[in-house]
Amino acid sequence: MPDQNPVIQRTAPVERRVDAIQQALDERGMNASEAVEDLTHRAQEQWIPQNGARVIAKAWVDPEFRKRLLANGRDAALEMGFQMPKHHRHLVVLENAPKVQNVICCTLCSCTAFTLIGLPPDWYKDLQYRSRVVRESRTVLEEMGLKLEPDVEVRVWDTTADTRYMVLPERPAHTAGWTEEQLAAIVTRDSLIGVARL
Ligand SMILES: [Fe+2]
Repeated sequence: MPDQNPVIQRTAPVERRVDAIQQALDERGMNASEAVEDLTHRAQEQWIPQNGARVIAKAWVDPEFRKRLLANGRDAALEMGFQMPKHHRHLVVLENAPKVQNVICCTLCSCTAFTLIGLPPDWYKDLQYRSRVVRESRTVLEEMGLKLEPDVEVRVWDTTADTRYMVLPERPAHTAGWTEEQLAAIVTRDSLIGVARL
């Protein structure tokens, strides 16, 4: 077809280009395949929402830790052994209240505090979510199963490269006397992003 873009025609699909780069780096002794495997392993085994869940559970049972978490999320998470990459310079923990629901997005791409929340789900990266959650947050939340009373204020937080967010959901009333471990088990990834309540 004469009107097809010759550049696009010459460009291989992204998977093949990635494989080719990986192979070229491997051939030069730079161990790209090993690095990719290591990253995949870390993403699947270590960067999981259960980390954030444990932080939240501790904040629910330990008022002093809660204060530290709200003052400097990064340092408080580190107290529990949860590291964040250097470029995640701030972790801002957003406290929900009966009349306040915080919700996180990244309008530009897909940034999250992924070492605590886990890698972002597909819908979080979708242009629909990224654009609509800002303009019509209440409707988007409702579509995702979270119907809020009209007097609940919705606060939307747009992540940047160096400032990451995590929502501190409210502790459900029926959990009085539960252990930290039991509490951590009910904290979901979606509640840490703010599209669900517990
Ligand atoms: Fe982003």
